[in-house]
Amino acid sequence: MNLLIVGATGTLGRQIARRALDEGHEVTCLVRTPRAATFLREWGASLIKADLRDPETLKLAMEGNSVVIDASTVRATDTIGIREVDWDGKVALIKAAKAAGIQRFIFFSILGSENYPNVPLMDIKQCTELFLKESGLNYTILRPCGFFQGLIAQYAIPILENQPVWVMNEATSTAYMDTQDIAKFAVSALSHPETENKTFDLAGPKGWSPDQIVELCENIANEKAKITRMPIGLLRNGQKIARFFQWSWNIADRLAFSEVLTAQTPISVPMAETYKIFGIDEAETATLEAYMQEYFDRILKKLKQIDYEKNQKQSRKRSPFKTPSS
Ligand SMILES: NC(=O)c1ccc[n+]([C@@H]2O[C@H](COP(=O)([O-])OP(=O)(O)OC[C@H]3O[C@@H](n4cnc5c(N)ncnc54)[C@H](OP(=O)(O)O)[C@@H]3O)[C@@H](O)[C@H]2O)c1
Repeated sequence: MNLLIVGATGTLGRQIARRALDEGHEVTCLVRTPRAATFLREWGASLIKADLRDPETLKLAMEGNSVVIDASTVRATDTIGIREVDWDGKVALIKAAKAAGIQRFIFFSILGSENYPNVPLMDIKQCTELFLKESGLNYTILRPCGFFQGLIAQYAIPILENQPVWVMNEATSTAYMDTQDIAKFAVSALSHPETENKTFDLAGPKGWSPDQIVELCENIANEKAKITRMPIGLLRNGQKIARFFQWSWNIADRLAFSEVLTAQTPISVPMAETYKIFGIDEAETATLEAYMQEYFDRILKKLKQIDYEKNQKQSRKRSPFKTPSS
């Protein structure tokens, strides 16, 4: 099939591109900056320069494609607001797909978005789900809850660098998943017609609280974490203050997300039926234990190598006529 992947430079999107190419699909990636996407070209994908905020470019991007997989979202590092990309941009994308006669549209929402009308990103995801359902396009909506990959910056790196790990006091447990496993659902949907015009929640094998993730990392790294606990009240106040200044809407919207992370209901769902529908073997899904072990093994091996090379250089610099102690 000819697939257009939106957000292919992102954490999840790149795994979808990789998987789709491995399965023999023709992949075109809609990218804002082709220079930053050469790795996708090297993998065998074509690139088309377009922007969700520019509807004319979206029309051109649809040409020659029969499927759209949308794994895009506003970048935390962008100064652009959530609404501009995740609502205006998605409405334009869905309209362009409909006008171009796209046969299948796969959209990534967030698990439980219907429960948080006061959280901008969740509300926008919910509205986009409804807009897509009413568009007349043949759709599949996938709703993951969190990625393993996000836990590296939040927990693993600070522990390795002996920096504080920020832990929200009342945070609920979340059943994170590896983006490689989430990508399997997006690509398998294309060969499973029973997934058409349906919505699926996606969750990993086990829910993890922040304290459990810290403990897992500490055990693997054999390091004690410096934990800094953050009361939820502090985040809520931060949100109110940020709203006061017009320039910080984006920050305020992001802080609002703390409401989701501290809701008392664990973020997870039973998955057995979903695995069956998509024809995916649940036993092959990565666990956080294995993912973190692999990450720490790789990094610690690299650090040892760097240390070894540094020592080699230093011993070469020493005078051949002197022993280090002389
Ligand atoms: N992260 C999570 O834990 C999580 C949980 C549940 C659901 N989701 C959903 O999963 C999907 C993927 O998330 P992610 O974390 O992988 O995203 P990400 O790493 O932040 O990547 C975002 C992608 O969107 C692209 N993008 C941003 N603005 C754009 C624009 N104006 N026009 C075209 N492309 C644009 C980015 O391109 P550039 O490289 O040019 O910036 C990038 O490829 C999203 O729909 C997200 O809401 C994420």
